[in-house]
Amino acid sequence: MKKKIAVTRILPYDLKEIFPSDQYELKIWQQEISPTKIELQNFASDADGLISLLTDKIDEEFLSCAPKLKAIAQYAVGVNNIDLQACSKRRIIVSNTPDVLTQATANLAFAMMLSLARRIPEAQKSAASGEWLDWMPGKFLGLELQGATLGIFGMGRIGQAMAELCQKSFGMRVLYAHYKNFCLEKAEQVSVEALMSKSDVLSLHAPLTSMTRDFFDIEKFSLMKENAILINTARGELIKPQDLELALRNGKFLGVGLDVTAPEPLPLGSPLYQFDRVLITPHIASAEGPVRRKMAKMVAKQMLSSLNNERPENSVGVS
Ligand code: DGY
Repeated sequence: MKKKIAVTRILPYDLKEIFPSDQYELKIWQQEISPTKIELQNFASDADGLISLLTDKIDEEFLSCAPKLKAIAQYAVGVNNIDLQACSKRRIIVSNTPDVLTQATANLAFAMMLSLARRIPEAQKSAASGEWLDWMPGKFLGLELQGATLGIFGMGRIGQAMAELCQKSFGMRVLYAHYKNFCLEKAEQVSVEALMSKSDVLSLHAPLTSMTRDFFDIEKFSLMKENAILINTARGELIKPQDLELALRNGKFLGVGLDVTAPEPLPLGSPLYQFDRVLITPHIASAEGPVRRKMAKMVAKQMLSSLNNERPENSVGVS
């Protein structure tokens, strides 16, 4: 009997190259918008394997509707949408796509930092709205990044790649806060309070867990320099959105870069869109063409291994 694999979105790679059609039946969700909860339950009800996206909520309720499921391969490094405990109880193998997207994600955080330090979103908006009347010596004065201090919250692979980019490009001093103690050359581990108060640029790279949810609130923001830059390419839920809005209204931050928000998509009516110094992108950190293709090939290979009872290269356990 053919094994059934449900894929919740069209991916930029021909999955038939990995799954021979005489052994596997591929069922690919054809719409651009994610399946709703009920659609997902119906779509994957008879699947042996599920290739999921970070928008798919894989919880106990979903799993009970997919009784044959043996493996989930997530097209992302973050797996906060998956109840790992529930999967482990059902002996479902879960894998993800680390490493391939590390540099791309750090590149976007770096691009946001540069853009906000030089106030590009504000300057573009001003020029396009007819305010460019003359050369202006005192306008759009930005932050000098040479020798500035970068703070990294969550010094995993992506945090380290961002630190390296900033050190090599601008000789930035790097501070970091991480839940584990570990030694990193040329970077200094500090308390969260010191990270908040000393950073000129604070870049978030921690996964979303019960510890990190809503971690950045008005109290933490009040410790930050008035003209600091905040960048989030990790998960929107790390930041309390109403507290961020309040801090912005109080004049805090030279700029804020958000590739991730809570919720996603960020509704058009969100007050965050009203601030010229807030740069918002629609969760595109891994969106370098070759990277997204590598991620697709990687999930396919991991699914293949899992369904053949081999350990996939990147299995994710319950922490
Ligand atoms: C991930 O892989 O978790 C990213 O957020 C997707 O770009």
